[in-house]
Amino acid sequence: MYFGVDYYPEHWVYPYAGTAEDPEARWRRDVELMLEAGVNVVRMGEFAWGLYEPEEGKYHFDWMQRAMDLFGKAGIKVVLGTPTAAPPVWLARKHPEILPKDHQGLTLHEGTRRAYCMNSDVYWEYSRRIVRALAQALGKHPQLVAWQIDNGLGGHNTEASFNDETLRDWHAWLKAKYETVDRLNAMMGTRFWGQNVAHFEDVPMPRRAPTVHNPALILDWMRFSSDTIVAYARMQAELLRELTPNIPVTQNLRALTRFFDHFDMAEVLDFVSVDSNATIDSKSAEFACEIDMMRSLKKSGIRTPDGETGFWVIEQKAGNVDWQEVNALVRPGVVRRFTYQLISRGATGVLYFLWRQPRIGSEKFYGGVLTHDGRGQNRTYQEIKEVGQEIKRLAPALKDTKIVADACILFSHENDWNLKFVKQPNEYFKLREHIQLFYNALHDRNIPVDFARPTEDLSKYKIVIAPSLQLLAGGEADLLKLYVQNGGTLVGTFNTGLVDEHQIAPDSGFPHDLIDLFGLEVLEFDPLPPGEENHLTMKGAFSATHLHPAKLWCDIIEPKGCQVIGTYAKEFYAGRPAVTTHQFGNGRAIYIGTLSHQFFYNDLAVWLRQLCGINPLLKVPDTVEVSLRQKDKTKIYFLINHQNSPVRIPFYKPMHDFLTGKTFTGNYDLPPHGVLVLDEQIGSA
Ligand code: GAL
Repeated sequence: MYFGVDYYPEHWVYPYAGTAEDPEARWRRDVELMLEAGVNVVRMGEFAWGLYEPEEGKYHFDWMQRAMDLFGKAGIKVVLGTPTAAPPVWLARKHPEILPKDHQGLTLHEGTRRAYCMNSDVYWEYSRRIVRALAQALGKHPQLVAWQIDNGLGGHNTEASFNDETLRDWHAWLKAKYETVDRLNAMMGTRFWGQNVAHFEDVPMPRRAPTVHNPALILDWMRFSSDTIVAYARMQAELLRELTPNIPVTQNLRALTRFFDHFDMAEVLDFVSVDSNATIDSKSAEFACEIDMMRSLKKSGIRTPDGETGFWVIEQKAGNVDWQEVNALVRPGVVRRFTYQLISRGATGVLYFLWRQPRIGSEKFYGGVLTHDGRGQNRTYQEIKEVGQEIKRLAPALKDTKIVADACILFSHENDWNLKFVKQPNEYFKLREHIQLFYNALHDRNIPVDFARPTEDLSKYKIVIAPSLQLLAGGEADLLKLYVQNGGTLVGTFNTGLVDEHQIAPDSGFPHDLIDLFGLEVLEFDPLPPGEENHLTMKGAFSATHLHPAKLWCDIIEPKGCQVIGTYAKEFYAGRPAVTTHQFGNGRAIYIGTLSHQFFYNDLAVWLRQLCGINPLLKVPDTVEVSLRQKDKTKIYFLINHQNSPVRIPFYKPMHDFLTGKTFTGNYDLPPHGVLVLDEQIGSA
């Protein structure tokens, strides 16, 4: 298993380290300390363009070659970033047109990273040149195991720019999509406020304007911007595959903070890598949810350096971040715990950001594996060294193991953009929070979850949850029906099917194209302000442990064949259905017409588990997170205590802990932040 760090050799040369006679001397000490910590891979070079090419056309890859040679002697592998995230200053001076413009038309200037417009032909050309030069110089180096394309694409809100070349590409994109202006006007509904156009070239970008832009235009703009980012990554990926066909290509993605289609991006990559800020997340289930989302981006066609089919965490924060108001120290044991949480949910490579706190630049006080002094006596280094030793013991057992999930939550970026950037009936509603309610209920019952977009083949899942698919394409609706028809259980919710993929509301009732599936029609919906609540009266097999509120949104439902499971308790729609189920083909479609508190979703999970025959992984105290990696008959359980206090777990059979190699039985006190990795055959609770 790959275990490593993000290393910036360029930070550790004379005068910041080394000596005038031996400017790179420190690198040797770094390699020693890395080896002691069990490091077997480093990522380097993603911001090194200005050093590789200090003057146009004059390349200096020799220093990186020396660093790679040194790692070669130590048996440490290398991932190289293509350095396009940080164009050199000379390039912006020579070609100021590469600098991105924001939606107010203001230029974002050079002197930092990400200062480029992804529609700039000049930037594409210079990107190709540096990527080609890099691949030709270092692509055959025996240490190289993967390429990382660029770094943090879309980061610092650079997903879209508003340059002249962007406008040109936008029009070409619209032409390819709509073919005729008449069709564009019709599908985009431009006659609203009389914004119809006579030529493709007249379609505006959604720049700063007195009031809101046409929602259909906003959505197309988001799709176009996403396609632009993905095309830029594809250009680099294809070039790298041509020059170094055996080296897989990845990119560091972040869970749902950037506005491009991550599923599309994952198709361009051989394997997915992620950045994780987990050390500042307090809720383990939120982080687990993000990990599962990222793992789910690419489910097939995965090509990693060691043939595993998981994802990599290419930047796991080794300590505190530096962008909060107060960047508290990360407590002992927490980095280790998050590392195991990532591995337990499918990571097959983990690299810490960053190896050593830099003496220069804007990220000096980021937590590093080493502190500024570089001595290797510091707390984090000791903790990561311990993890490194454990990983060595664990790796053989984990080989080829995978996460297998029976439950799936649907997520579509287009729907997410629609909810975020288009005016909403209730601005307090947040898709992420809605997803998290379902996710928590499954997570806390130790039921593994995948994520998928609605167009994926869902047939392998026993249950599919589709929270708030407000924007739903006709084709997506058909696939949901097919899934249920063939025996699946689908849970749909309020705020579904209010518009189609063109942002046009249906005239056939809500949820569009799914009325027959759910056996109901939503006649109206009542958005509630925060704090104002209705209540649910539940019946039948759904046993309610609490009085469940109905919050933020109440669908007023006309049943058309569905069975009613819960009704509203008050308002003019008191007694009307709020929760229903409907047999459709060989499966069932459950509908939840409102938002409730966590207990409701917990009860729902218990009910669904019985309905669909889903078994939790293990029964342990609630505060312990359980995940499973499996291969054939091998089952490896991870038990993680996310609390600050110990948890007692009774084991009735002798069990084997991979981390310590010890076998024990009886009560086990899992310490605060403690982790157990168990083998099923001999260990069960
Ligand atoms: C990452 C980025 C790193 C570093 C880090 C700080 O997204 O790739 O270079 O800046 O953020 O949070």
